[in-house]
Amino acid sequence: MLAKAVILAAIAAIAEARFGQEGAVQASIQTLNTFGQPGQAAALAGQTPGVLLAGANACAKLALADQIVAALGNDPAVIAAAAQLVGAEKNFNPSAQSIPTLCSDVTLPATAALRGIVPLVDPAVLGSDVENANAAASLQTPFGATGLSVADVAKAQGFSNFTAQANA
Ligand SMILES: *[C@@H]1O[C@H](CO)[C@@H](O)[C@H](O)[C@H]1NC(C)=O
Repeated sequence: MLAKAVILAAIAAIAEARFGQEGAVQASIQTLNTFGQPGQAAALAGQTPGVLLAGANACAKLALADQIVAALGNDPAVIAAAAQLVGAEKNFNPSAQSIPTLCSDVTLPATAALRGIVPLVDPAVLGSDVENANAAASLQTPFGATGLSVADVAKAQGFSNFTAQANA
């Protein structure tokens, strides 16, 4: 009983730590409050948790990242925060799905500086080691993405254990 409780607590702590990144992305965008119109960064930051929900369309966070740059400008701080959103892991419900969804829309994100970034995926997914290393690398140096969707780029870089999802 005790052992089980300890394991469950440990699992909960790990899950919380990983899903904490959603809060981290929101916080980064929130700090862009000197850009755009007053309140705009906060409003955009408030939209980030919704696009990272397990049930959200995989393309929605890319469109939001474009919106962030469109509204707040292309200062390196804005680009960095928007890039963090593009590269963030979308929540994942392992009891409802076994593999993540990645956006197959070649037009997203439209912002050139945000292209070629691939997202983190749940570490329980086979192949996530490759994808998560690629995700980290792509934030430093984006992969070539001319004519490619995020799903295409991930596949080209060696990760294919996902469901491609068109923009809804
Ligand atoms: C994809 O990941 C799932 C979950 O880890 C695993 O069961 C499955 O075997 C993987 N499929 C491929 C083709 O690697």
